[in-house]
Amino acid sequence: MIHGPEQLLNDYKSQIAATRDEKELEQVRVALFGNSGAMTNLIKEIPGLPKEERSDRGRLLNGIKQQLEGAIAARLGELRVERLADIVETEAIDITFPGPPLGQGHLHVLTQVRRQIETVLESLGYQVELGPEVETEWYNFEALNLTAGHPARENWDSFYFTPELLLRAHTSPVQIRAMQRIKEPPIYIITPGRCYRRDAPEATRLPYFSQVEGLAIDRALTVGDMKGTLLYMIQSLYGIERKVRVRPSYFPFTEPSFEFDVTCGICNGMGCKSCRHKGWLEVGGCGMVHPQVLRNGGIDPTEWNGYAWGFGIERMAMLKHDVDDIRLFYESDLRFLEQF
Ligand code: DAH
Repeated sequence: MIHGPEQLLNDYKSQIAATRDEKELEQVRVALFGNSGAMTNLIKEIPGLPKEERSDRGRLLNGIKQQLEGAIAARLGELRVERLADIVETEAIDITFPGPPLGQGHLHVLTQVRRQIETVLESLGYQVELGPEVETEWYNFEALNLTAGHPARENWDSFYFTPELLLRAHTSPVQIRAMQRIKEPPIYIITPGRCYRRDAPEATRLPYFSQVEGLAIDRALTVGDMKGTLLYMIQSLYGIERKVRVRPSYFPFTEPSFEFDVTCGICNGMGCKSCRHKGWLEVGGCGMVHPQVLRNGGIDPTEWNGYAWGFGIERMAMLKHDVDDIRLFYESDLRFLEQF
């Protein structure tokens, strides 16, 4: 078909307008401007025209070419907008759709064990009592019968800010604070918390650790009451098959004083490598509250008596989960922490 340039302009304009996608538009563009496209061919004819016609013809064709290029560009824009609208319609992201589940963390194993201890003792009527980690010399030592120069003080080698202020070396000072705050026995409290001692980190000790202290003050309490309470706590945490025992020991704030042991969970008390063939593992100290300590807390020892204990929470977690190095609790290694 032979087209005059104006005819060609109109034909192709309507073809361009009728394209339904970018591919069709590209086909029209090639049909016009490709190597043997309609427009290309018309332009190629110019040099064969008589000289005087060439420049008019050139101007005419150039104008048509520009109009067609403009029409193609405009249509391309329209088609893209249509395509985007289509995507929004059919493939739009549903922002209300639930995402893939995120890997969720969980409580640190020491927090879990502390909370378990709290739950068991709260079920017996004990209340959680907290005290400051920066303590005075009096609460940390003096009031607990550890008077200045007492040889047992070296068991609590402490971090001092001033001669009067230190990081508490145990949770026992909270016993005194609890007696002063509550005033009227009966008192049944536990006090979990962080303690600090000047010890180099090794498999069994750290300069920072946590303890849970227990204190019961009532009328005519006995070592049997204490042992029964601690047996209940241990069996609730570790299982009914565990046995406990107390061995005579010495603490200035209790009389009598004991070390408290639990049967090894690996060999069930038979003796194995993990308990160094003893069958028993040490958990902490306990005893009947010394009358002077009651007096220091403002309680009359002729009317009231009590028992107390102080166990390491890391130690209790180690016994529960057979962990053999206390440092693991503080290294934030997810391979360790994710096990609990
Ligand atoms: N405060 C002691 C310590 O840190 C542990 C302790 C022993 C606490 C006997 C007590 C207790 O309440 O009666 O080593």
